[in-house]
Amino acid sequence: MRRQYIDIENSDTLSLKDDTLAAPAAGEIAITVDFAGVNRADILQRLGLYPVPDDASPILGLEVAGQVAALGADVQGFEIGDRVAALVQGGGYATVAIARADHTLQLPSNIDTRDGAALPEALLTVWHNVFTLGNLKSDETLLVHGGGSGIGTIAIQMAKAWGARVVATAGGSDKCARVRALGADFVLDYRSDTLIDDFKHADLAGAIDVTLDMAGGDFMPMNFELAAPDGRIVCIGVMRGSKAEIELFPILMKRLTLTGSTLRGLGMKGRADGFKALQKAMMPMAAAGHIEPYIDTVVPLSEAMSAQTRMQSGEHFGKILLDCRQT
Ligand SMILES: NC(=O)c1ccc[n+]([C@@H]2O[C@H](COP(=O)([O-])OP(=O)(O)OC[C@H]3O[C@@H](n4cnc5c(N)ncnc54)[C@H](OP(=O)(O)O)[C@@H]3O)[C@@H](O)[C@H]2O)c1
Repeated sequence: MRRQYIDIENSDTLSLKDDTLAAPAAGEIAITVDFAGVNRADILQRLGLYPVPDDASPILGLEVAGQVAALGADVQGFEIGDRVAALVQGGGYATVAIARADHTLQLPSNIDTRDGAALPEALLTVWHNVFTLGNLKSDETLLVHGGGSGIGTIAIQMAKAWGARVVATAGGSDKCARVRALGADFVLDYRSDTLIDDFKHADLAGAIDVTLDMAGGDFMPMNFELAAPDGRIVCIGVMRGSKAEIELFPILMKRLTLTGSTLRGLGMKGRADGFKALQKAMMPMAAAGHIEPYIDTVVPLSEAMSAQTRMQSGEHFGKILLDCRQT
């Protein structure tokens, strides 16, 4: 199959190229890509800061949505033409991509491929970190740092659909208002000089059961202070730095758990198991409209660099997508 894809020329330049993609192997699906999601890891990969695993494509892009174009051997449950969204092992910034069938979701009839492309990475990240590692229960409180991120906007809706109370942080009053509109019960501006006191005034110190933290750095001691007894703090990113000085007593006194993960580190089976579980638990909520991606911008595939530049600027809210139908 001929395809166009985005090549990393250097850390400042992405360019459109074309080549021939091999047919899908056993257990794989070829997808004609309508839209591809842009993720933070893509920027790190362009900058040479995210080593691509040996078994992954060096081409950018971790998630796509489109139509099934070809099936490898032993693939069941999919037909040519099915509308799907998938996590890919690289190669998403392209007009055709290869995904494992067990990393692919059938899209419900009321979710189009534009929204679909915003789902795989966020759904699986939140499912694994908040619901599997964090074991969030419906009568508990979740704190989401980065409530306006592609991941955060979905995390808030998944936790609300689950029945939990959701607290979030975002940068600036405008983003805080938008996070509140997504359903968060309480939102604080992380740029406030009095953030920890703002949490305390809202009676949230010692009240957070699960924290989804993409900030790290100096937020980590605050996470420990805000945690409820038996609280779980799950680290998925380090936007404020990968080093933190932590007071250990709260761990002893409140029996806290600090954990974290990366999707790639989960391995093929871990990701497949996660997809199976979230397909059952979360896709019905998405189909019912309780989990709806918030799309910030859609740019043509050939302008992938501008999509990444917007993400780096931090001005976006929600998800940035590439339209792979226009090149
Ligand atoms: N571990 C995993 O498996 C996994 C998977 C996917 C993503 N991630 C991580 O999750 C994070 C979000 O990814 P994304 O693709 O959704 O990116 P994104 O939309 O660009 O989100 C970045 C978020 O970080 C927040 N942020 C930036 N600087 C901050 C600071 N100094 N203090 C506090 N918050 C800050 C931003 O808040 P404002 O916009 O409000 O300023 C924004 O909400 C990234 O760190 C990414 O690496 C991890």
